[in-house]
Amino acid sequence: VLAIGAAVGLSGCNGAQSTFVDAGAESGSVLVLFWIMLAGATLIWLLVIGLSVYVTKVKPGAHGERAGIRLIVWGGCVFPVVVLGALLMYGLTMMPGLRGAADGPVIAVSGERFWWRVNYGVEGTPGVAKALPTGGVESANELYLPIGRRSEILVGSPDVIHSFWVPSIAGKMDAIPGRVNRLVLEPTRLGVYNGVCAEFCGEAHAQMGFRVVVVSEADYAARVAAEAAPASVPDHPGRPLFMANGCDACHTVRGTEAEGRIGPDLTHLGSRRTLGAGLLPMTADNIARFVRETDHTKPGAEMPAFPDLSEADAAAIAAWLGALT
Ligand code: CUA
Repeated sequence: VLAIGAAVGLSGCNGAQSTFVDAGAESGSVLVLFWIMLAGATLIWLLVIGLSVYVTKVKPGAHGERAGIRLIVWGGCVFPVVVLGALLMYGLTMMPGLRGAADGPVIAVSGERFWWRVNYGVEGTPGVAKALPTGGVESANELYLPIGRRSEILVGSPDVIHSFWVPSIAGKMDAIPGRVNRLVLEPTRLGVYNGVCAEFCGEAHAQMGFRVVVVSEADYAARVAAEAAPASVPDHPGRPLFMANGCDACHTVRGTEAEGRIGPDLTHLGSRRTLGAGLLPMTADNIARFVRETDHTKPGAEMPAFPDLSEADAAAIAAWLGALT
């Protein structure tokens, strides 16, 4: 039973979304702090249990009132002050290194019900700004970062409070309407990591994920250049269907007449690993299903379902969007 319990409990620890994976400078510090606190807490627990057994079982009644007062003063006051003070000082010494200047790209990330708007190459804003900078290269739900550089992530929201969290790389940063928070991330390991929304924000909160792809600096530059390019497949039977069904009212596909700003930019949708903010693998079948049954695949999503769209039309739209890499 224990083995089954452990297997079920640990099945989420696949590495891509775990605070135990040290794939960033900040997550490394958090992990060291966690192990130190766990070791300290274990020692103190053993000490308390040992003392309890000693005074109740080994030598009950052998200690007078003065011994009890000494225990309260030293064990209950002095010891916690010293231990917690040392932990506080140690934690504080970690902070300057984690809140230092960035030497990588500045990327704006906006948490929106229930997906992530990503803007590469924006200008950084010193101090507290009220709105995220715009004008960069827009993408969604997938964030590329160069390895070994301290990238500056500006985090905001237009609707409610969300929280940007990539457990394997760094701590959380709240996305708060009317405010821009700053998070400096330094990925130290190549790979693809899961990010989540860590603040309850509504019905589809649990389906508000994203991917972080850590690549070399050259690959990062290449990816941003690719994101900046217009749609790779401008002409396709799916394109007029996309426009005729009003998808362009909410979505942008650069290089076409679709310039909607409400939903995710779909210019390079086919290049992303997931659909629906980390929900489904990116396949044409899943895109078609997502469009026709949004209310079932992602309950609570702001996008309406298109159940009256014929399967053939949905497949054509999905084929086009999936081909946009
Ligand atoms: Cu966004 Cu929870």
